[in-house]
Amino acid sequence: MARSSSAKSSLDGFPASAIFEKDQGITYKDFLILPGYIDFAPQDVSLETRVSRNVKTKIPLISSPMDTVTESRMAITLALLGGIGIIHNNLSIEEQAAQVERVKRYENGFITDPIVLSPKNTIADIDNIAQRYGFSGVPITEDGTLRSKLVGIVANRDVDFERDRSLPLAKVMTTELVTAPKGVSLVQANEILRKSKKGKLPIVDKEGRLVALMSRTDLLKNREYPLATKDDQKRLRVGAATSTHPHDRERIEMLIARGVDLLVIDSAQGYSKFQIDLLKEMKKKHPEVDIMAGNVVTREQGEALIKAGADALRIGMGPGSICITQDTMACGRSQATAVYYTALMASKYKIPVIADGGIANIGDIAKALAVGASAAMCGSLLAGSKEAPGDYYYENGVRLKKFRGMASIEAMEGSGGGAKRYNVEDQKIRVAQGVSGAVVDKGSLFEFVPYLMQGVRHALQDMGCRDISALHKALYASKLRFEPRSLAAQAQGGVHGLYSYKKPIIGAD
Ligand code: IMP
Repeated sequence: MARSSSAKSSLDGFPASAIFEKDQGITYKDFLILPGYIDFAPQDVSLETRVSRNVKTKIPLISSPMDTVTESRMAITLALLGGIGIIHNNLSIEEQAAQVERVKRYENGFITDPIVLSPKNTIADIDNIAQRYGFSGVPITEDGTLRSKLVGIVANRDVDFERDRSLPLAKVMTTELVTAPKGVSLVQANEILRKSKKGKLPIVDKEGRLVALMSRTDLLKNREYPLATKDDQKRLRVGAATSTHPHDRERIEMLIARGVDLLVIDSAQGYSKFQIDLLKEMKKKHPEVDIMAGNVVTREQGEALIKAGADALRIGMGPGSICITQDTMACGRSQATAVYYTALMASKYKIPVIADGGIANIGDIAKALAVGASAAMCGSLLAGSKEAPGDYYYENGVRLKKFRGMASIEAMEGSGGGAKRYNVEDQKIRVAQGVSGAVVDKGSLFEFVPYLMQGVRHALQDMGCRDISALHKALYASKLRFEPRSLAAQAQGGVHGLYSYKKPIIGAD
């Protein structure tokens, strides 16, 4: 009788090949990784990675290009925390480019697009602003726009006892101003603001034109972000999605002009002539811009895109939380198997693969990395956070935010991004490949993401790997050991047998 491979080896469990190269596709819940040897602390684990050939990040987390997940606020937050966000393309070209620009122009602690009024505006205009935005310290410039000469500032105490709300601001504004010069550091500006005892600190250029504002209420919140994902000019990095459609060539040019760091060709089935042609064209025209191609789930698909010039592959067809692609289109692949095979192929070309969709908790991120992914792309996990687009609302007393698939009927009726991704833009009858729904409030990503990443550090520590490249080395040297788990083992691996319990909101599905 042939002896099993585990009996031949002194190691328990199996190498990844024995688990994944089988006749049944599997996903994250179907297997576990056996623990390795620990001789270091979780804080010694580095999560630094590459999300594409030339774009490095300090944490392996990317937000999905979805209209309920990534706009500029999400992208700024994730970049500050060490990941990267991909601005969705269910937006007009101008609006998407403006979102990219907002991320590129962001300066930590500085408000680079403050609301500005002119001396001719009235106190009533200040009231309007206070009502809409909840603050009342407004810089006044000659013509009421940013980058025009600063002439005054109007604070609450300048207007609160004034009966005549139609008075022009010229009559009430403070003209003795404490300002800071353009280029001032965060620490210096904080110091000036602290000493001046003012509410707002305008930042002006040499000609006295307003370029930014700093707010006292933000003073305590201003901190450094050592993990921030930045380009060589120290601007935050950002990605943006585009389709392969000819009319989106203009979108691509505009995104590049505004400084996008990573273009993501957003397609549910990326193995197409359109995508290969676009990759070849772009690599000739703009070799300096990295392109993430996809989505793919097989080696054949992925290799074709790498050969056409892809700088990263996005893996996943059907695993997304809002996704009904596999039920509708009959095509797709179980996610862990898809990531394993494509990563194995792409590792020969040193091209990172990104595990996109179906990540429900910290363990799934760690497992995606363990089967070869360089980063995880997440939609539902990050949706519902303060930084995701949309307002909170209540249903049965639970605070929720909307979350929807880009190929849900609702999203396809938007500016076209969703419909283009799923190749149904020109169709009279649109078949949905996604649903729309809601997710619970997750609070701010400033707490949530560090929590997730600390969890991933613990997971790597348990596997005995100090960083993602060591993890991948162990994977391909068959040192990392895997074991499938039965349905009963899966049930036992979750909370069970309790009458009730309190779930940690974060990272538990
Ligand atoms: P999640 O992290 O499980 O929520 O999955 C997010 C991923 O689902 C995205 O990054 C997309 O790849 C994918 N996706 C987004 N919208 C749709 C859709 O409408 N149908 C199918 N997949 C989608």
